Amino acid sequence: MSAPVIEVSELTKIYRVYRKEGGVRGALKGLFSRKYDEVRAVDGVSFSLCEGEFVGFLGPNGAGKTTVLKMLSGLLNPTSGNARVLGFTPWERSNAMKRQFSLLMGQKNALWWDLPARESLELNRAIYEIPVAQFNEVVETLTTLLDVKDKMSTMVRELSLGERMKMELIAALLHRPKVLFLDEPTIGLDVVSQKKVREFLRQYNAEHRIVTMLTSHYMGDIEELCERVIIIDKGRLFFDGPLDDITNRYVTEKILTLDFADSRMERGLEGCGEVIEQTPVSLKLKVPRAEVAAVCRRILESNPVRDIEVLEPPIEDIIRRLFDEQRAAR
Ligand SMILES: Nc1ncnc2c1ncn2[C@@H]1O[C@H](COP(=O)(O)OP(=O)(O)OP(=O)(O)O)[C@@H](O)[C@H]1O
Ligand SMILES: [Mg+2]
Repeated sequence: MSAPVIEVSELTKIYRVYRKEGGVRGALKGLFSRKYDEVRAVDGVSFSLCEGEFVGFLGPNGAGKTTVLKMLSGLLNPTSGNARVLGFTPWERSNAMKRQFSLLMGQKNALWWDLPARESLELNRAIYEIPVAQFNEVVETLTTLLDVKDKMSTMVRELSLGERMKMELIAALLHRPKVLFLDEPTIGLDVVSQKKVREFLRQYNAEHRIVTMLTSHYMGDIEELCERVIIIDKGRLFFDGPLDDITNRYVTEKILTLDFADSRMERGLEGCGEVIEQTPVSLKLKVPRAEVAAVCRRILESNPVRDIEVLEPPIEDIIRRLFDEQRAAR
């Protein structure tokens, strides 16, 4: 194995949240003695990533994922601990490091709202001092891959959520970073756009061998893209290893939703799985993971299916099961 591109050692972040006391008296008191609570958002986390790795970074809400990514991007100083990204200490914020990594946050936008997409990207080009030839080449390739060529003159604020996220991705990749931090890049996207973004990310990672850390609450993203996952809970590292270890053990069922072209309750699907919801024109089933393909085939053979969808149980559920088991073991 090559030398790690990212090395994190005992990284810790404690936020101080000032406690406000109510009323005038409280406000006055606050002037003299500030009381604060400490939030241990990240607590002694260590891991390392090598070239080309695409790692899923998971954990329940508030686990500390975004905080870790912000520290690794140099947006936050840690309270203690160390990290090296491409040989740099991120919070020293050297320009050399800035030119080699990107952070994309699905909940925030980096593009200029009131400019057409192309101009907005152009501004990024100027800021990062990206050569024009490189800019043109990257934009041409990525707009084609992401299917947004015809959206380049649309104002950013008028783009759909999915189109905007694709533009954000292009913006994040303009300078051809070697490290990419993706914080919920598919949040709120419809199934089709999610798929498109995923396919793109997989292809891009394979081609450029960049190190990618991805947080997502969608199991599909993680399953499709990451062989390895790092899970944190309450700021502490909980699991670091192959995703297969987790899915084989904890993802035992999938949810199947079906829309039918005809209307009836009797569908002859006894033994296919546990019925969660049923109307004359739709059905929602819980099916053992290993039987999904066979069950789909059986339903399609005997019913006029208009639409079919296989849903993963939410990551939260899987992680909860994992946590429960570990706690029980202790
Ligand atoms: N600026 C801040 N000041 C104080 N507390 C904060 C701040 N930012 C985050 N926190 C707290 O730190 C903890 C970790 O937050 P963080 O945003 O890193 O979680 P997360 O794993 O990204 O969660 P999510 O899945 O909801 O995005 C939470 O308890 C959060 O309330
Ligand atoms: Mg977050």
